[in-house]
Amino acid sequence: MEKITRVEAVEIHDSRGTPTITVTVHSGLEKASASVPSGKSAGRREACELRDADGVGVARAIVNVNTAIDEALRDAPLDPEHVDRTLLALDGTSDKHKLGANAMLGVSMATMRLAAFVRKEPLWKTIAGIGGFTPGFPFLYMNMLNGGAHASFRLPFQEYIVAVGRALPSESYAKANAIFETLGTLIKQRYGDVPMGDEGGYSPDVRGIEKPFELLSEAMGAEAMAFLAIDAAASEFFHDGKYVLEGAPHTSEELFSVYENLVQKFHLKSIEDPFAEDDFSAFHRITAELGNRTLIVGDDLTVTNPEITKEMIDEHRANSMIIKPNQVGTLAEVFQTAHIAQKAGWKLIASHRSGETEDSFIADLAVGIGAYGLKAGAPTQKERRVKYERLLEIEKEFLIHS
Ligand code: PGA
Ligand code: ZN
Repeated sequence: MEKITRVEAVEIHDSRGTPTITVTVHSGLEKASASVPSGKSAGRREACELRDADGVGVARAIVNVNTAIDEALRDAPLDPEHVDRTLLALDGTSDKHKLGANAMLGVSMATMRLAAFVRKEPLWKTIAGIGGFTPGFPFLYMNMLNGGAHASFRLPFQEYIVAVGRALPSESYAKANAIFETLGTLIKQRYGDVPMGDEGGYSPDVRGIEKPFELLSEAMGAEAMAFLAIDAAASEFFHDGKYVLEGAPHTSEELFSVYENLVQKFHLKSIEDPFAEDDFSAFHRITAELGNRTLIVGDDLTVTNPEITKEMIDEHRANSMIIKPNQVGTLAEVFQTAHIAQKAGWKLIASHRSGETEDSFIADLAVGIGAYGLKAGAPTQKERRVKYERLLEIEKEFLIHS
């Protein structure tokens, strides 16, 4: 097997202009790179994203890659599973604060990409092979209206999503783009120029919980394979024991009623993080009462962590989950989590972060693990578009390689 000859990291800037890292793994003359995204409405139990003392810089993460990790991996076999095991042993902490989950994930993803390259396989196929998954095409979860922490709370929920699931990604993408364009026209007519949120969606200042859903329904028209969905990211509007929506405090029960009404009226396909990440009884209740009509999706709740996911499955606190590699730090753990969840019948939605790079890795990940959805934001930002564009390439590869 080929050997790793060098590992190095450099600083780049994400879609918010914040520093992050690109890691390159070398094997002789061959090399592959991967870039690490960064969340803003992060879950409390996510692995540690290592930043400098100023809370912004990534110099320490870069040093870790260029010294300790490079030393540990020089001459190691180009085997993603071996590399992830080495990273986990070298870090040795429960939250990855020694090396940094960002440093570790960059190495993990670049190794997988280089392994795919030397195998002369598309990345999604290598992911499916090494991880032991059945690949498949996801629904496109396109975040069209941005609110919450991603848009100064002009809208109460963080993401208003249209999920499109036609037979082929190219058909889904064309439809999602058409809906997004219609939405843009409607918003321009009614609200003029409006700000955009972190993930490239419109952020109009409209009042009324139902208003954004009415707007999206109008843009969607009669398309059969398009559905509304939200990421409430409720931890972000939970203050002093109450959920604050448009200035009004709500109990868990009152917020449940809000969701029940939205599911009834707008047939939401999924609700992500409907409650704060510690409000376990509310998660349990909504899964029991609405879980047969809509997907209850954990994100901050599950943080792509195998042990935490197992606990949430055992306690029936959701029935689906977000997969974000940088919440946990290595692909080996992502695969472990995905298997635990799929075995329990949970659906997976592979997701970008609000601070993104031009790396399209999650498109291959979504197809490779056979995820139900791919959440990658609005097509106004290059960092989001590359994910969808990669999915269109995969569609062509799929015909040859599967
Ligand atoms: P984040 O948001 O990347 O800022 O955490 C995305 C999400 O909550 O799904
Ligand atoms: Zn989320």
